[in-house]
Amino acid sequence: MSLVPMADILKKANEEYYAVGGFNINNMEFLQGIIWAAEETNSPLILQASEGAIKYIGMDYLVNMVKAAVKDTHISVALHLDHGSSYDVIMRCIREGFSSVMYDGSKYPFKQNIRMTKEVVKAAHSVGVTVEAELGKIGGAEDDVKVEDKDAKFTKPDEAEEFVEKTGVDALAIAIGTAHGVYKGKPELDFDRLKEINSRLEIPLVLHGASGVPEEDVRRAVTMGINKVNVNTNFQQAFTGKIRELLDNDPKLYDPRKYCGPGRDAIKAKVKEKIEFFGSKNRA
Ligand code: G3H
Ligand code: ZN
Repeated sequence: MSLVPMADILKKANEEYYAVGGFNINNMEFLQGIIWAAEETNSPLILQASEGAIKYIGMDYLVNMVKAAVKDTHISVALHLDHGSSYDVIMRCIREGFSSVMYDGSKYPFKQNIRMTKEVVKAAHSVGVTVEAELGKIGGAEDDVKVEDKDAKFTKPDEAEEFVEKTGVDALAIAIGTAHGVYKGKPELDFDRLKEINSRLEIPLVLHGASGVPEEDVRRAVTMGINKVNVNTNFQQAFTGKIRELLDNDPKLYDPRKYCGPGRDAIKAKVKEKIEFFGSKNRA
């Protein structure tokens, strides 16, 4: 199967009230662990790569690895740019075959974010590529996207309505109390805000920084309009944790296949858990 636009995957999720994982790829083991878990659970999948991951893996390697991964798959898969920072990066990803992009203009003032997102939407939609945007500012750090606690800003429902109407985006990442990376304390999600935003918008909403959010809160958010849940840190922890355990227990171990393989299995098990509680199992 070839890659599908993310809008197709999210449309079904929105109509049937479940969420699909936006799972980050950091290397080949992540890609394999993630896609094998989705295939075994018969779940649709959004494979996403940050600019940092593209730089680390290399664009050609990344796109061709993903093409190889989806060649014989029976599930719907989108390849999505995570937190795209500029028009140029986005155009490059579209040219290379991404079926979806995120333009993250959240660091800019509201009007500028609208203006720049609109340009991305125009170009992406002309070739059938989906666009996710961000409004408000999600705290924490992911690669080069760093927002101090004092600068994090919740999404305003009025602005969300105006933003979607003026830009025509397909999905919107909202800030309701989640943060990228490891949390300093227990996250307090603003469910009233989510409810209000969802009542004003018809497009799918996206929850970023979901790794440290308790399972019951993610489930609740999914019942209230979240249709895409982004996870990266949890899989990094699963992979590295397994490798650390194996190397600590056996100082003579040197064959990377003997620790990267189990690391990949650990990612796969985590992905299956997420798919289960996002509700995307058997929806491929
Ligand atoms: O864009 C990616 C995510 O929002 C992942 O966040 O690393 O906290 O799971 P996380
Ligand atoms: Zn994110």
